[in-house]
Amino acid sequence: MQIQRFLVTGGSQGIGAAVVTQARQAGHQVVFTGRNDAQLEALATVTGAHGVKADVSIDADNARTVATCTSVMGGIDVLINNAGTGYAAEIGALEIDKMRQLFGINVFGMVDLTNRVVPLMKAQAGGDIVNLASTSGMKGAKGGTAYAASKWAVRGMSQCWQAELRPHGIRVVCICPSEVQTNWMGRTGRNNPNKLYAEDIAATIMAGLNLPRRVLWPEVAVFANNPWKED
Ligand SMILES: NC(=O)c1ccc[n+]([C@@H]2O[C@H](COP(=O)([O-])OP(=O)(O)OC[C@H]3O[C@@H](n4cnc5c(N)ncnc54)[C@H](OP(=O)(O)O)[C@@H]3O)[C@@H](O)[C@H]2O)c1
Repeated sequence: MQIQRFLVTGGSQGIGAAVVTQARQAGHQVVFTGRNDAQLEALATVTGAHGVKADVSIDADNARTVATCTSVMGGIDVLINNAGTGYAAEIGALEIDKMRQLFGINVFGMVDLTNRVVPLMKAQAGGDIVNLASTSGMKGAKGGTAYAASKWAVRGMSQCWQAELRPHGIRVVCICPSEVQTNWMGRTGRNNPNKLYAEDIAATIMAGLNLPRRVLWPEVAVFANNPWKED
């Protein structure tokens, strides 16, 4: 892959940070977002990527993020829609405001940012958009109303964007990881070698991007190979 200009949302830790790191190691230019100052600064220092304090659920922040990409890198070739949050609650006891807040990040934030990036990609007749969904968006489970619905939405939007953007040379790839051992929802300290790591998902994303431009993975589900050896 030629040197590309990456925008990674939620790049300050977890899967996003692994993508930032691997993209920088491959020589790409990278702007990434997050809300935590200390984490943004730490990753920017280590990788040389450009951190932007921005909340993807705030429209003005998304406008500023895209403007930063234009001023720092001259544009965007690869958009990694990774920022996401979780909320588990069973129907009958679900706090609707928390679900609305989650959709503001996982769904509407992704749409607002992509809506701003696509005109730039169309103008340059090419680009890559990678959307982080989840295997939770492939099979419903107890407590999953808010999160699973948001990830089902991401899969559906990805299919719509593929139909709209393939004629413009823009690839849209939807990644559906199973459990990844990040600090997701405060779950720190997991380190089971039989389960997925953030680096595995980043490597999957980079592999898809490295395919010849005529090749498109519409959707990739990623599972751990040996998960029955539980910790
Ligand atoms: N871990 C898993 O098992 C798993 C499985 C399937 C799919 N996924 C998906 O993969 C993506 C990344 O998950 P992860 O495990 O890497 O999570 P994580 O370790 O909790 O990291 C989430 C990242 O998103 C950022 N973020 C959260 N809300 C944001 C907002 N409103 N605006 C901007 N950035 C925001 C966080 O930074 P700040 O807090 O600083 O904003 C952080 O950098 C998510 O979309 C998640 O749904 C995760």
